[in-house]
Amino acid sequence: MALVEISLVPPSTADDGAFVAYATDLVNRVYTDAEKGIWREDTDRTSPAELAGIVRAGQLAVARLDGQVVGAVRVQRLATGEGEFGMLVASPEHRGIGLGRRLVEFAERWARERDLATMQLELLVPQTWTHPVKDLLHHWYIRLGYRPVRVARLADDYPALAPLLATPCDFVVYHKPL
Ligand SMILES: CC(C)(COP(=O)(O)OP(=O)(O)OC[C@H]1O[C@@H](n2cnc3c(N)ncnc32)[C@H](O)[C@@H]1OP(=O)(O)O)[C@@H](O)C(=O)NCCC(=O)NCCS
Repeated sequence: MALVEISLVPPSTADDGAFVAYATDLVNRVYTDAEKGIWREDTDRTSPAELAGIVRAGQLAVARLDGQVVGAVRVQRLATGEGEFGMLVASPEHRGIGLGRRLVEFAERWARERDLATMQLELLVPQTWTHPVKDLLHHWYIRLGYRPVRVARLADDYPALAPLLATPCDFVVYHKPL
């Protein structure tokens, strides 16, 4: 795919209010649509303060198409030693052209370069019904080499988020050896 560049955002960009607002809006816009039915109305995925913190920690990578930010992913090293990616988004106007795959490949390269042996991701899923977006993502992650290793109740591991849920949810932890 031509003219797409993926790179880590320099930590000092956390002070760039316009960038932080744009990236926050992209993540929230994408998740509002992708996680419809999972959260109570008006629940945002992130906030400018949280996103700025992620940038300042050197954990946000963005995809730029002709200079415009069209996708993002958060990468981090977990205290347990795995690499993890999350907050994976491609702008709705640029879907299905390989942005998602390129962002995941970037995250995996990032982890390999840090000698991390395992990549982790978490997928939030309703306990009692199949969410179509999550179902597609599950099959995509399997195609990319990820396997479920643990299922946990969101309310147990992230109690602060439980009151925001519109439906009881589990999260499934996936691992891929790198
Ligand atoms: C997940 C996401 C980043 C993927 O972005 P994308 O740019 O569409 O990704 P790609 O173009 O690389 O396509 C990803 C896969 O979906 C498939 N796909 C794309 N559009 C599709 C469609 N309309 N129907 C079915 N499959 C489709 C592609 O074939 C590809 O599979 P492959 O890599 O095996 O070929 C994007 O859908 C998104 O932002 N989703 C909402 C946020 C979200 O749920 N993030 C993940 C939370 S864990």
